[in-house]
Amino acid sequence: MELHLHIEGTLEPELAFALAARHGIALPYPTVEALRAAYSFGDLQSFLDLYYKTCDVLRDRSDFYTLAMAYFARAHADNIVHAELFFDPQTHTSRGVPMGDVIGGLRDAMADAERRYGITSELILCFLRHLPEEDALATLEAAMPFRSEIVGVGLDSGERGNPPAKFVHVFARAKSLGFRLVAHAGEEGPAAYIREALDLLQVERIDHGVRCEEDPALVERLIRERTPLTVCPLSNVKLRVVPRLADHNLARLLARGVNITIHSDDPAYFGGYLGDNFRACAAELGLGAHQLTALCENAIRASFLPATEKATHLSRLRRAVAQWTMRSLLP
Ligand code: ADE
Ligand code: ZN
Repeated sequence: MELHLHIEGTLEPELAFALAARHGIALPYPTVEALRAAYSFGDLQSFLDLYYKTCDVLRDRSDFYTLAMAYFARAHADNIVHAELFFDPQTHTSRGVPMGDVIGGLRDAMADAERRYGITSELILCFLRHLPEEDALATLEAAMPFRSEIVGVGLDSGERGNPPAKFVHVFARAKSLGFRLVAHAGEEGPAAYIREALDLLQVERIDHGVRCEEDPALVERLIRERTPLTVCPLSNVKLRVVPRLADHNLARLLARGVNITIHSDDPAYFGGYLGDNFRACAAELGLGAHQLTALCENAIRASFLPATEKATHLSRLRRAVAQWTMRSLLP
């Protein structure tokens, strides 16, 4: 299950150059290698600056289709069965790309991915928190013709200085329209932003949330309420939220009973897709079969799938784990 993935963050340098050539656009780097070499970030903002720049190559419906199909091929290779994709419409509509082309291209790919790979997926529209709430409200209204194609709304972009409290009205409106609610909080921002996202925005999942440990009472609450934290370990290392993967608090939080799930965030930029995140955590944090299975179960339960589909995925997972255990016991 992939529950924390920005589809724009799956834009590999090779595809960025191919799309730039298609549209006759110059990228700020001369070669694929030079662009990839620029993927070394001091913090969230330095990543976002490059990320928004490379999004400029996404110009029409077919670009969004190509981007998402490239992602689904990788997701299939990682045995992903369900993905809930974040997309940032403001990054595209501000450049003159119609909302319908963004959503249309993504939905075309989602339909093909289900036919070709059996992967189900949903779209989560994220508001850019560095922009005013009025822009988010206008974006939500502009998305209403596509209401049935979007499962939920989220909040992303530069966290520092842009608290969840800034978006109370747009989240209340989205809730009244029946959208599921999530928000990035506690990635670079303080634990207080996690509380705001829960109390003021009424979100069901927290994206990242790794700074929750700075508020012990909040950790107790997250455990009690089983709030999912969609944690992105390789992202946290690349953006220097943690110094090294071995220092990551996710294993400790999981052991304490926090509802941790693992995801890939912006895999083209952060050096790994979902399988890479799992393998790196197993190696660096010493996670064994029991913890890895728990992380997968948490993600199935935290997804926005209907209860019947969650039950099907849980039993498939248990069968796969039992087979794997049997095989590892055989000589
Ligand atoms: N947009 C894309 N990736 C993001 C991240 N890790 N945090 C906040 N906004 C983002
Ligand atoms: Zn994210």
